[in-house]
Amino acid sequence: MGTTCSTPQEILVGVTGSIAAYKAIEIVSGLKKSGFAVTVALTPSALKFVTPLTFEILSGKEVYSEVFAEKTKVSHIEIAARASLFLVAPATANFIAKAAHGIADDPVTLLYLSSNCPVVIAPAMNERMFNHPAVQENLETLMRRGVIIVSPEEGRLACGSTGKGRLASVEKIISTVEKLLKKRSTLKGKTVLVTAGPTQEKIDEIRYISNYSSGKTGYALAAEAFKRGAQVELISGPTNLEPPPGVNVTYVKTALEMRKACLDIFFRADITIMAAAVADYRPVKKFDGKLKKSHNLITLELVENPDILKELSSKKKKTQLIVGFAAETSNLLENAQVKLQEKKVDLLVANLVGDGKGFGQDFNQVTLLFSDGRKHKLPLLPKEKVAEKIFDQIEKILSN
Ligand code: CTP
Repeated sequence: MGTTCSTPQEILVGVTGSIAAYKAIEIVSGLKKSGFAVTVALTPSALKFVTPLTFEILSGKEVYSEVFAEKTKVSHIEIAARASLFLVAPATANFIAKAAHGIADDPVTLLYLSSNCPVVIAPAMNERMFNHPAVQENLETLMRRGVIIVSPEEGRLACGSTGKGRLASVEKIISTVEKLLKKRSTLKGKTVLVTAGPTQEKIDEIRYISNYSSGKTGYALAAEAFKRGAQVELISGPTNLEPPPGVNVTYVKTALEMRKACLDIFFRADITIMAAAVADYRPVKKFDGKLKKSHNLITLELVENPDILKELSSKKKKTQLIVGFAAETSNLLENAQVKLQEKKVDLLVANLVGDGKGFGQDFNQVTLLFSDGRKHKLPLLPKEKVAEKIFDQIEKILSN
């Protein structure tokens, strides 16, 4: 069941012109059975495969299939505003390209640009089309903006060949929608800023100073904040991770870029979590090209990077909550206590790093230190669970 409130949540289903359009009939019917209200929008190409009447009967609502139709009683802005989730299934290469570039010349793309809810798209097309760099880059753009992609499956395609391009199963699409809408809404209306990963400080064109942070904890925190209904801004240093669904990502490389990105967003963040492992120093001078090998001892002059967390805390309004991290190799609690006070954070997450601990691992054992002096040691947990526990504590602080 997708909802627990008396008014059913509304799903906007956009159908675009693929042979798989007929499966949208099953999807709409399944969503209705799961207790959702559904409004359907069709592109002119979808109309070549399916009829508005079918969807009108199934959804019990007027179908939006003409941008300039006189009989349409509700505007696209109203339709988009009502939706708890926008699902485009099947999504053609054409829709994906238009959505990635902000083109709105049919009912579905128009609604996409007008919507302000989570967006799920289920692509369906020939395998060569799906793998084309143009399509893949457009999908990456959409994912970076928080769109959730239900990947197509391997199988026999309408063109007779087999490969990856077949619309994901109706069950998978519906369960993706249900999972997303089952998310809690404890942080609804809040903006959460999370930093993640390492920074890289250039020595020359091909070398840099960095650290072993994988970004997993920061990404898990961003995903958890989204699950709790927050609007999430993730500022990420270089990592190998997929952007978490539903999250806006800003990619940065250096500490100075991370500082700038943080300052741009911080003023509107209710909760800020600095999980990034910011490099403390950067080379004073970046050498042009490749620094050539010298057989003598070389000296690299380093200058300290700004402490982003300290700067944000000094600008913090009373209503804003800040969480910092402490990565230590020894004297965990003593060092963390100093950081809690010096960086003036509401909550500090302390963990041991190095020697196979913390950085790069899937599990972590952390101790939470609170500004009122309390300490709370968590067991060794998967980083996703650590993120849950951190948000449980954040919500407790907010409720006091
Ligand atoms: N941090 C930051 N800017 C920096 C360095 C650290 O914002 N230039 C933040 C980190 O994101 C983390 C916290 O400060 O939330 C503590 O980072 P950590 O690396 O543990 O400590 P440092 O402040 O760098 O101190 P030290 O290296 O001496 O332990």
